[in-house]
Order: sequence, then structure tokens, then C-alpha cells
Amino acid sequence: MKTYGLLLLPSHNRVYAQSAPGLARAELLVLDAAVLGGRLADVTTTVIGGVPYLTFRTEGLSARETDLLANLSSLYALFEIEDADAPGREPLLRPVGLSRLDRFASDLLTIQKYPGKTNEDFTKLLLNVTAMSCDTPERLLSGELRVLDPLCGRGTTLNQAVMYGLDAAGVERDAKSFDAYGTFLRQWLKNSRLKHRAETTTVRRDRRALGRRLHVELGESKELYKQGRVIDVTMINADTTAASDFFRPATFDLVVTDAPYGVQHGAAARAERTRSPLPLLRDALPVWARLLRPGGAVGIAWNTLVARRDELAGLLAELGFEVMDAEPYHGFLHRVDQAIVRDLVVARLPAPR
Ligand SMILES: C[S@@+](CC[C@H](N)C(=O)[O-])C[C@H]1O[C@@H](n2cnc3c(N)ncnc32)[C@H](O)[C@@H]1O
Repeated sequence: MKTYGLLLLPSHNRVYAQSAPGLARAELLVLDAAVLGGRLADVTTTVIGGVPYLTFRTEGLSARETDLLANLSSLYALFEIEDADAPGREPLLRPVGLSRLDRFASDLLTIQKYPGKTNEDFTKLLLNVTAMSCDTPERLLSGELRVLDPLCGRGTTLNQAVMYGLDAAGVERDAKSFDAYGTFLRQWLKNSRLKHRAETTTVRRDRRALGRRLHVELGESKELYKQGRVIDVTMINADTTAASDFFRPATFDLVVTDAPYGVQHGAAARAERTRSPLPLLRDALPVWARLLRPGGAVGIAWNTLVARRDELAGLLAELGFEVMDAEPYHGFLHRVDQAIVRDLVVARLPAPR
């Protein structure tokens, strides 16, 4: 058996404070169950040289396995630890070479800053855990999963999907957020000198305007763009309960979203208003379920101070989803601020037998 130690990103510790090691452990265990055959043993926090590492033991890791681990949202560096338990000897850390999926510079995720933005580390965690819960998790590596964020704000999930090379779509009711995302993405593509086509149109049916659509096709390189191997990004400005007016049924592998917190952001936050996302989810989930292909997964983050896990799980189960209930899926609860204690729930749409 070999011992490995995962050094957490400093930003992870800042975002989650004391919850960081627990969240990293839960994400690692979900990945282990999905694609490593559940063979990681003794997953725990170990302090080495005064610094905490998430350590685990296994019979070595193949290149494909390190490629999967490399995308954990908490991962800064991975080491193989020699002499982890040798009495009287200092452990020796040997870096494991990592190749992350990241296709673009990190400013794609970090430039936009606005009240109500979902933290980008957490967005990556939610996307990862949802991807690991669909019936074809390895397709994350080949860039084949299609992602929908049906409450997409200014596109944090879309940007993380693009970072992974995945096609992404979003729906957002707020016109200002829709406009801001279009402006950001066009500017970022221009500054990054990436070949692309971008257009904003109004989608109509029977001459009635249903909503606006931003459609972008971008190439990771000039060559790929010329070959038509593009990443497709769509954002719709409409109510999410009308999402099926814009997308064909069963065309997404993953629905990944951060539900409204029922809290006003910015200055108004002090005069807290708490509102449950359940009525919205009750109306919207059947629509989202139709857009998801069988075997696909949905991951929803929400504020536990305004809705209970069993209420969300109940809504999903009523629609025929299999709610993920294994131990690691109960390890994601964490405090964001005084008004938000966030958790996530993940469920899979059963594939036909
Ligand atoms: C927690 S925020 C998501 C933030 C997003 N992840 C980001 O980082 O920008 C929830 C979003 O849902 C949107 N929303 C709420 N109700 C909606 C509805 N019925 N249809 C579409 N969007 C809605 C809100 O405007 C808000 O932008």
C-alpha cells in the first residue's frame, strides 16, 4: 500500500474555514466511489510539518486515476508520502505530476465579482460531485458532458464548465445579469485572443418574444476552431420554468445549480429576508428533469436555514430521481455567513432498463 497526501488550496481554507478538510474528504470519497472503485483507505487529515494534508492509502494510482484526482476542487498539490509510518523517520513527500483539465487561464473564473456570486471553488465542487454521480462520470475527462445551470446568475457554473471544455447552457431571469455575462464573456474572449462567434438574439414563437439568447462558440485554439471543434455556451434570459421552450428534451447530462438563498445581498443583507426556494423548485424541477437525459444527474446547492434536506430530497424522489444518500453526500454542509449555511443534494435520473 502507498500513502498519498493532498495539500488543500489556500483559497479553499479561506472560503470554508474549519469545514475545508471535511468538504475535501467528502468530494474525494464521492470521486473514489464513482471512478476509483471505492479503494481508497484511511481517508483522513494528517498534520505533516505543521501543515494539514488529506491523506489516504491505496495500491498506487494509474495515470488515468491521477488525471481524475487532479480536478478535485480542493487540490493544490498531491504527494506520495514515503516513510509515512516509519518510527523515528521524517516522512518524505514526493510530488505526483498532475495534469488538470483546465483549458484556459484562471481569470475566466475570477474576473467577475458581484454580490450574489457563487464562490468559484464551491461551484467547481458542485459540478464535480454532480458529474461523479451521473452514469458516465469518466466523460468529464473527455469533455463530453453537457451542463445546464437553470438559475445561472452571471454564469459561474458556465465558466467552470467551459474551463473543463464542456458545452454549457444557463437560464437567468434577471436581465442585468444576462447582459453583464454577455459583456464579460465577449470581452474576455477578445482579451484572451480566442477565436469565437457570439450573438444575442430574441427567441420568438408565433411572433411572441419568449426571451433573449446569448449564443457563443469558442475555440480552445485557432486550429480546433477551424475544425469546428468548439465549446458551445448558451445563456437564456427568461424564467427557468420556461426552460423547455429553449432546449430539446433529454439533451443535458448534468443540471448544476445554486438555488436562491432567500437572502438579500449587499447593503440590504442586514435587513434579512428569508424565503424558501421550495416553491420555485417545485415548479421548476419537473421542467429541468425533462431536459436531463436518463442516467444524468442534478446537483443543487441551497441554504439550509430556509429549507430542509428531506424537503428537497422528497421533491426529487417524487419526480423519480434516485437521491444520492451514501455517507460522503452528507459531508458537504458548511457555513457561508450568518444568514447562509449551505449544503448540496445530488440525484440521478434512472436510465431505462
Ligand atoms: C444563488 S443565485 C445563482 C448565482 C450564480 N451561481 C452565480 O454565481 O452568478 C440564484 C439565481 O437565480 C435567479 N432566479 C431566481 N428565480 C428565478 C427564476 N424563476 N427563473 C430564472 N432565474 C431565477 C436569480 O436571479 C439569481 O441570479
